[in-house]
Amino acid sequence: MKVISELSIKKLVYGGYGLADHRGKKVFVRYAVPMELVSAEVIKEKKDHIEAVVKDIIVSSPWRRQAPCKYYTYCGGCQLQHIHPEKQVELKEDILLESLQRIAHIAVDRLGDSIKSGREFGYRIKAQFKVQSGKLGFFAWGTHELVSIEECLLLHPAINGLIPSLRELIKKVKDLQELHVLYSPTEDEFLLKLITPTAYDANKMRTLKEKLLPKEVVGMGNYSKLGDQLMKRYHIGRNFTYMQVGKYRYRVSNDSFFQINFTLWEELIRGIVIGGYRKVVELHCGAGFFSIPMSEVSNFLLSSDNNPSAVRDAEYNAKLNMRDNVVFSQESAYQTLKNYAGEVIDLLFLDPPRSGLTTEETKLILQNRPREIIYVSCNPTTLARDIGKLTDGGYVLKGIRLIDNFPQTYHIESVAYLSQQ
Ligand SMILES: C[S@@+](CC[C@H](N)C(=O)[O-])C[C@H]1O[C@@H](n2cnc3c(N)ncnc32)[C@H](O)[C@@H]1O
Repeated sequence: MKVISELSIKKLVYGGYGLADHRGKKVFVRYAVPMELVSAEVIKEKKDHIEAVVKDIIVSSPWRRQAPCKYYTYCGGCQLQHIHPEKQVELKEDILLESLQRIAHIAVDRLGDSIKSGREFGYRIKAQFKVQSGKLGFFAWGTHELVSIEECLLLHPAINGLIPSLRELIKKVKDLQELHVLYSPTEDEFLLKLITPTAYDANKMRTLKEKLLPKEVVGMGNYSKLGDQLMKRYHIGRNFTYMQVGKYRYRVSNDSFFQINFTLWEELIRGIVIGGYRKVVELHCGAGFFSIPMSEVSNFLLSSDNNPSAVRDAEYNAKLNMRDNVVFSQESAYQTLKNYAGEVIDLLFLDPPRSGLTTEETKLILQNRPREIIYVSCNPTTLARDIGKLTDGGYVLKGIRLIDNFPQTYHIESVAYLSQQ
């Protein structure tokens, strides 16, 4: 294996790599820390860049630490455990600022205060385990090679407590490909999803649930998939649980999105939801996580999501929380923007998937001209691209904050505030 003997790490980039230069080529180095001098083993060499992994640390950063997880660097789930958690937040803020500068050509002096995770470990209420040859774990970085694990430090301890039963379960279900677990920390309940290439017998599934799993597993779904295409789905037991977030109660179905870092739930609502608007249009509303609190502090809310399960939950949650000034629609973000063309919108609230907004969606926003926009993002690159288009179209970026939603990983969540010029 080729080794580059001296690499000076300039900064951390999105994806969790330390960036260095070597003979005019960019080198993306796994497990490095900015300002370190390292030697690195080359994993891939392309025309314009090299991917490498730290071999020896020649000059170490004061921010380097011994990673707490025994699977770190074998398992690909975490990329930043070798960096102190406060520094992880700072480095992610730098990436956010740099993305805005490089992609949107906007120089922001300072971000707003970050929204902090309540814990650096044990914060995830959702696990998506891979299963291969009767083993359960996660893939190694950039591969489909399974790293078998007995626990994952990011997961809520209750999910780790369930792993021995899951190991028994996977021995019995032939061809199981993935096993997803959603845990409600407020109800102490689990929902499972078993992904198989062909449908598993429902009676056998029922027997396995009764024999192998604790009573806290209240529901189990079998999803047979051909590639990404869902062929068949059925549930045993309940297909939903509840999550209590401060005074708000949410029903969450196995197929709906819900914020995965439970230590941040209340702070997300306190920190992001702003009141005083007459008419709010919300896209990507999920099960109504932001919609319900937002409806309390605005006059009228029109919310949508393209996932039917999420919209059913959101409608149920509006009733559960006695909110009657919010209307939910199951439709694409594009369709919602089209529906409200020409109407006065005081606030547009967005929380898209990693791909961000489509070109057509951005165009419609610029035509509709909502007075203000709150954009929650889980990808700084697409966020910067979209902010660039919105500011070119007459909006001003008023502020942006990091949300420390995913400690130990490269993922970057943030919230941006824009308003008409
Ligand atoms: C990051 S989640 C946010 C959900 C919600 N705001 C929350 O905080 O729980 C993104 C949501 O966007 C929805 N979504 C993805 N693509 C969409 C599209 N093209 N149109 C409408 N909704 C979409 C997904 O179903 C998902 O519920």
